[in-house]
Amino acid sequence: MGKLHIVGGGAIGSLVAASAQKNGVPYDCYPRDMKTMPSCAHWQNGQTTALKPATPSPIVLPKSDVLIFPLKVYQLKAALLQWLPYLTQQPTVVLLHNGMGGLEVARDLLGGDYPLLLATTSHGALKVSTSSGFHVKYTGVGATQIGAPNINKPSPQTLADLSQIAPQLASAIATLDKALPPVQYQNNILKALWTKLSVNAVINPLTALHNIQNKHIAKPEFEQSRISICNEFTQVADAYGLDFDALSVHENVLSVAKATGENYSSMHQDVAHGRQTEIDAINGYIVDMATKKGIPVPENTLLVERVKALKL
Ligand code: PAF
Repeated sequence: MGKLHIVGGGAIGSLVAASAQKNGVPYDCYPRDMKTMPSCAHWQNGQTTALKPATPSPIVLPKSDVLIFPLKVYQLKAALLQWLPYLTQQPTVVLLHNGMGGLEVARDLLGGDYPLLLATTSHGALKVSTSSGFHVKYTGVGATQIGAPNINKPSPQTLADLSQIAPQLASAIATLDKALPPVQYQNNILKALWTKLSVNAVINPLTALHNIQNKHIAKPEFEQSRISICNEFTQVADAYGLDFDALSVHENVLSVAKATGENYSSMHQDVAHGRQTEIDAINGYIVDMATKKGIPVPENTLLVERVKALKL
């Protein structure tokens, strides 16, 4: 099994590291800021896992290793550029972020033939500052969907069927599944990413603008906005050959809002902590993709403007 290299010390990156530690998968962490790297993780059953100390700088990785970027999309270009000189042996690169746009950045820098996987996760994690430094808290059991953007073969549903894809990618997925299970292979990973985009496009801006927990976006006062976002999303996705049904998109958004009801969304947290938000990679991405096809998306456009107008 290859070693897992985790770039960044955010909540999800630290969760991957802690889970790798717990499950005996060899790993290294490369946070941007060593001072804010969590030293341990708290699981839902009350157990704690100590993380090994972070590694300060990149090294040349063998092909069998896996380099995962659980970063915000706007941080990806700088991080990939920093790693580029160390990727001569083409270890598998995995992108794991909310919103869209990472694939374009990675293709630009790595080229279209690079062994690349895209992932989206519904595991929940929160990075907390304590008197003994930063910790990561596991807030919700989830799953990770993963796939290769270039592969178009019949979909193996289970990890046992991974022999159908390139052995290097299959082995990278098996490493990730051992570190933070379950990892589910998706032949059509782009559809899975657009599905997550629809969830984030509704929950994230509404929770950030109205300072509410996820469950409150289900209130009648937000119905008009929810429906408009879902309708616009569906039209844009359709223009790119992705088949969604606006009613099912809306239902899925409501079920995720219910399942994560007590949480504050990542965009809510970004605004609360005065950090840059991911609005460009979420509703901004829908607006950009719509503009290229001449589709009007007034609700998404308004949300981008309103989130950008928030004082950070
Ligand atoms: O960005 C987030 O917060 C999460 O992706 C989600 C699903 C909206 C739950 O909070």
